[in-house]
Amino acid sequence: MPARLVIEGGVPLRGRVAVGAAKNATLPALAAALLTSEPVTLTNVPDLGDIRTMLRLLETHGAAVARDGRRVEVRVPRVANDEASYELVSTMRASVLVLGPLVARHGSARVALPGGCAIGVRPIDQHLKGLAKLGADIAIENGYVVARARRLRGARITTDLVTVTGTENLMMAAVLADGTTIIENAAREPEVADLAALLTSMGAKLDGVGTGHLEIQGVPALAGATHQVIADRIEAGTLITAGAITAGDVTVTDVAPEHLEAVLAKLDECGVDLDVGPAWVRVRGPARPGAADVTTSPFPGFPTDMQAQLMTLLGLADGQSRVTETIFENRFMHAAELVRLGARIETDGAIAVVRGVAAYQGAPVMASDLRASAALVLAGLAARGTTEVSRIYHLDRGYEHLEQKLAALGARIERTSR
Ligand code: EPU
Repeated sequence: MPARLVIEGGVPLRGRVAVGAAKNATLPALAAALLTSEPVTLTNVPDLGDIRTMLRLLETHGAAVARDGRRVEVRVPRVANDEASYELVSTMRASVLVLGPLVARHGSARVALPGGCAIGVRPIDQHLKGLAKLGADIAIENGYVVARARRLRGARITTDLVTVTGTENLMMAAVLADGTTIIENAAREPEVADLAALLTSMGAKLDGVGTGHLEIQGVPALAGATHQVIADRIEAGTLITAGAITAGDVTVTDVAPEHLEAVLAKLDECGVDLDVGPAWVRVRGPARPGAADVTTSPFPGFPTDMQAQLMTLLGLADGQSRVTETIFENRFMHAAELVRLGARIETDGAIAVVRGVAAYQGAPVMASDLRASAALVLAGLAARGTTEVSRIYHLDRGYEHLEQKLAALGARIERTSR
């Protein structure tokens, strides 16, 4: 049988737990290694499915990867192959992050179009329009984006919507372009700022980091660098919600609370007791959370990557909540699974109406994507009886040892493939 998590719910979690480095900051930082022939070293790389996929992809482009525990050195003396195959891109959409660096350094890239996924259509038109503005010739050939440019030229790019990996791809292209690039409507996510910090230590010239207006002065070449990736704000938010939903007392450490403001404000609105230190958050759960309405939006708004986890908490609230998902068009797959546990949730397009119930009851449920899996684990921790979460390969793509971390806080959770 494929691996599942078996959870006996009802234990209030207690203790301290540390979060790891952000998956969504590590992936672009690894792709940035394609921009230079010198080594790029990341000192705190988590052991995750998606990170292994990115390292495999970089190896296909000619990277030498040396891993020593959490320290990973990537060196690309020359780009040996400009193709990102459908096999790799279809297992991980973030593979598209090699497009900008490959065109900038090597002058060409062939990257499989990712297609749709469980949470939405997720086109990459903004990445392609931006690269075209920078002077790349773009064609779609047999399911692949083929991009070519002898030397990219700085340009003014205004994206039609806020895109995280789109901003990252265009930043990585612009750092080696001839002249100045301006990206308007740039994503302000901390992961984008962390990539900018790495690029700056490689010798790139960027201004406006953390704002919607980025100015990038191209340089002829970049050097290697050593970088520590920021803490994973979504893992932190998930662990804080685990403390809240079990009415426990958990201190989540190694976090950047300034990246979590929208999440903490919403939990506070639900009556969760929070103490916030410089790099930790202590959470004490209420006997029963209060209801709250939430709308996802780009940073600094409430993150779509915490929507499923918050919905799980709201499912137990005293009252009715409304969850509006504005980033992805199909990100309510967890709602139907939560209903199997006794939740009362009705979805209509981008809106879910959640009528709180007093308790969930354990049942077998199925994960549909990374954050939905985390939400189902949270539901299992709170439920009466046994919950079995299957398809946890989704969870393993983005949460490092989640069950060990929860078990150390007292959760009765076990991985089984029997
Ligand atoms: N979009 C377009 N065209 C584009 C790019 C995006 O229409 O060219 C749309 C998307 O379809 C979506 C919206 O714009 O509706 C925002 O998408 P964005 O590009 O910002 O998402 P992403 O860069 O593909 C990253 C994270 C996601 C996270 C989103 C939103 C990485 C590797 N992935 O995806 O993380 O949900 O930003 O914050 O950084 C996860 O970790 O579980 C995850 C899905």
